[in-house]
Amino acid sequence: MAKPARHVFICSQNRPAGHPRGSCGQKGCSEVMDEFLQQWQQRQCFAQVLVTPSSCIGPCGMGPNVLVYPEGVLYSNVSKADVSEIFDQHLLGGNAVERLKAPAYIW
Ligand code: FES
Repeated sequence: MAKPARHVFICSQNRPAGHPRGSCGQKGCSEVMDEFLQQWQQRQCFAQVLVTPSSCIGPCGMGPNVLVYPEGVLYSNVSKADVSEIFDQHLLGGNAVERLKAPAYIW
């Protein structure tokens, strides 16, 4: 297996309703995860990009959160509609999507 250029982690953490931290699960992360997997399949970019669901990344109230390495870029409040742009511009293009970056006080 070739080392991929980028690895994207999609927070897939769920917590019970009413939990004080909330969770990306309560904010629609499963839809975001499904869209990443679908586009990964469509684009057949398995040698360039790895897509992995993760547990909690940290800023739960700002989810769904998506973390991209090796740059260490955290995207927050990601929606299904944002996934194409993350693929095109960052995962395959190498340039972070500035408008989706978590604020500096978070990350
Ligand atoms: S639950 Fe997603 S960052 Fe904590």
